[in-house]
Amino acid sequence: MPAGKIVSKFFTFVEVKGNFYMNDKKELSAELRTALEEWAEENLRAIGLSKDKIHDYENWKEKAIAQLRFIYSDKVIDLFLRTKDFRKMDSPDAFARVRGQCGDTMEIYLKVNNGKIIDSSFQTDGCKPTIASGGMVAEMIKEKSIDKIENLTQQDVLNALGGLPKESEHCALLATDTLKEALNKLAERGKAEK
Ligand code: FES
Repeated sequence: MPAGKIVSKFFTFVEVKGNFYMNDKKELSAELRTALEEWAEENLRAIGLSKDKIHDYENWKEKAIAQLRFIYSDKVIDLFLRTKDFRKMDSPDAFARVRGQCGDTMEIYLKVNNGKIIDSSFQTDGCKPTIASGGMVAEMIKEKSIDKIENLTQQDVLNALGGLPKESEHCALLATDTLKEALNKLAERGKAEK
């Protein structure tokens, strides 16, 4: 397949039709810039494109990065590329797995001490916004007391993420629903002293 066609196939893959979220793009941190470049290279490689196969490779890389940043806020991108909380936890005090309306699942793990979340992590088989939402929830609840987080809403998560495309807003709901379930499990175990 000619390089031009392969590239347009790639952008069809990246593109999300419908409601785009636009935010003020600030200068990227060096870490996020590196992670984005690696993401773009990996995706171009996946469709058979490399530096030696296409003369304006760097341009296509920049285009891919710009398009991703057009769809998602930098906070969303940072979380789905770099969150450290996408991990299973050994011996959590509470764990919950919830299936969302789209069929994807999320798991949340909590470790608690004196009514305070001292560690939290998550796993999911969902999309980029789901990874970002799980990472955002993990970030938002760490070092917080249970009574401060039990009413965390989908909107709180969306606000902290800088928004999600309309069709992905349910991903934030999956994260807060899973958190609620994990807190219920914690309460059942009697470890949620306030
Ligand atoms: S599309 Fe399934 S949770 Fe994001």
